[in-house]
Amino acid sequence: MLRGKKVLLGVTGSIAAYKTTFLTRLLIKAGAEVKVVLSPAARDFVTPLTLATLSKNPVQWEYFDREDESGEWHNHVDLGLWADCMIIAPATSNTLSKMASGACDNFLLGVYMSAKCPVYFAPAMDLDMYKHPATLENIEKLQSFGNRFIPAGTGELASGLEGEGRMAEPEDIVDFIGKDLLKGMPLEGKKVLINAGPTHEAIDPVRFIGNHSSGKMGVALAERAYSMGAEVSLVLGPGSVMPVESSIAVYHVVSAREMNDKCRELFQEADIAILSAAVADYRPKDAATQKIKKSGEDIHIQLIENPDILKGLGELKGDKQVLVGFALETQNAIENAIAKLHKKNCDLIVLNTPSKKGSGFGHDTNEVTLIDRKENQYPLELKSKSEIAQEILQHICNHLL
Ligand code: CTP
Repeated sequence: MLRGKKVLLGVTGSIAAYKTTFLTRLLIKAGAEVKVVLSPAARDFVTPLTLATLSKNPVQWEYFDREDESGEWHNHVDLGLWADCMIIAPATSNTLSKMASGACDNFLLGVYMSAKCPVYFAPAMDLDMYKHPATLENIEKLQSFGNRFIPAGTGELASGLEGEGRMAEPEDIVDFIGKDLLKGMPLEGKKVLINAGPTHEAIDPVRFIGNHSSGKMGVALAERAYSMGAEVSLVLGPGSVMPVESSIAVYHVVSAREMNDKCRELFQEADIAILSAAVADYRPKDAATQKIKKSGEDIHIQLIENPDILKGLGELKGDKQVLVGFALETQNAIENAIAKLHKKNCDLIVLNTPSKKGSGFGHDTNEVTLIDRKENQYPLELKSKSEIAQEILQHICNHLL
């Protein structure tokens, strides 16, 4: 969820500030661009150099550098408007109180007051301070402004006391923000099953029948579905590219039969299933248990048909489930795709014509036509697979949910 997002981390003066080094790393690992601002007191707990190195951006804490005679100043408004989201962590009782009252006596507060993006705050303080009516009132007030409260955890505090007031762990902060950003997304609460990549059908322990599918289209669908709020399961054939997003549940399979079993299991819970895998239609009847040796003579491998995963799911499909197939056609493309759509009981079929330049296996781009049950056709021009994935999912949201 944080990939490509501009995150402003505001650190205030609490011992929990040391955890912001880990938080910065986690945000960067999640794909965010991070800039850090400090309150003056935060510098007693964590150095600007550490956070600048980890965030790969200069760290700021004052409106201008007293040593710099050029007259240049740090623009708090620009920084506030730059951010897609701001996290104030740790948020001390002093900073909470100033945020709630509009006091603006340092650079960090100036940035906070200028930010128009969602603002998260993760308090850190001793247990009695955390439960003080003034703190509770400030937290409530900040929430009434639309700021998002990340509750403190319970445990040993810097004072030696035990109780509530520890700043939430960096992993929990990232998780909280990720989930919060998904709220209100078009696929929020939907379970999406996607299969992708080729299958390998064993001839013997070292050889197989396969195809050139890279899995890129299915992985793009999985990532886009996740960023639109869905809970995504991806059943992935061998050698396929992997999604970058770690919250996508990936199930690795090799053969068509393994892919079939996993898809049928996951389909029971799925709201939407998109079958983009290039499943091998046939497999060797008897895979040899030992490597086949050269005999000086021709050999014949008998192939038998694999299960048709999409057709099987079409037979299982409930009223509320949406089933989307792909069709790879080299001739009579539209007629063949429509026939597949009906035969396999799909709600939508994505017609792929690999003969078109920049389309199909291995490419980063694709040109497809969406066809629905009423046989309406929606041609999508040549675009990146990620953009095509977005359009397919948007079509599902607009027409099929
Ligand atoms: N498919 C499947 N199981 C198979 C074969 C195909 O689930 N054993 C799915 C593909 O993932 C795709 C759709 O069926 O979503 C159409 O695949 P395609 O290869 O275009 O067609 P086939 O049904 O295999 O028919 P043909 O190869 O004869 O065109």
